[in-house]
Amino acid sequence: MTELHVVSHVNRHLYEGVLDEYFRLRHQIYVEERRWTELARPDGREIDQFDTPDTIYLMAMEGSRIVGSHRLVPTTGPTLMSDVFPQLALRGFVRSPFAYELSRVFVVRDRRGDQAAQPRVESVIMAGTMEFALIEGLSQFTIVMETWWVPRFQEIGWNPRPLGVAVDINGMSCIGVTINVSEKAWRETCRKRNVDRPVLVWNGLDAPILGRPQPAVLRAG
Ligand code: COA
Repeated sequence: MTELHVVSHVNRHLYEGVLDEYFRLRHQIYVEERRWTELARPDGREIDQFDTPDTIYLMAMEGSRIVGSHRLVPTTGPTLMSDVFPQLALRGFVRSPFAYELSRVFVVRDRRGDQAAQPRVESVIMAGTMEFALIEGLSQFTIVMETWWVPRFQEIGWNPRPLGVAVDINGMSCIGVTINVSEKAWRETCRKRNVDRPVLVWNGLDAPILGRPQPAVLRAG
């Protein structure tokens, strides 16, 4: 089964090759496939101002192959919402050590919508993202997202709450939302997406890594 590796500045030395491939994949997916050309870089690696030592990457891996990922950025510093798309947060930004901004979720093309793989890669990423938040004692996610995500999140029990109205950005309908972290949401994600156990791998890390011990014992199913 796909596993979701937690990568922070503490253990990134164990993932240097993986991270280089990760940034190349981001370039292929966001610049070449999605045509977000403002992210293009001559070295073929999509890295932005939110890839800092405080950023946490959840890497979906099958053996040594990256098959997907999700990025978490602390809301106590610069975020996509505050620094790039402030028009999406009419109700104000969330700034809290217990809230992280999610971005750059992707699954490699040949593993998208893969009904043969149970659970699907995207399901592992979503269940693992909520699992990470529970173990780390986070209370909320914020997301700048296209509006087509709203029913997808509702379907897995995530209940996105708008921080403003939907705005057209380069032809995409986008919205800023918060999502509350809860064990109920994690259980619902696992149930709906056939994830029957915790999926995180803490290579070289003692969980929790953000300094907020949370004695979460998670058993799906
Ligand atoms: N616009 C509208 N709908 C989209 C979409 C887009 N750009 N990308 C995916 N979807 C919809 C698909 O149409 C599909 O709908 P369906 O189930 O009704 O057919 C559904 O989302 C599932 O998408 P799919 O790509 O088949 O599988 P997945 O669930 O394994 O992966 C993503 C979903 C978004 C992770 C994957 O499509 C991806 O990596 N996309 C490129 C990166 C990206 O755009 N990330 C989001 C912005 S950061």
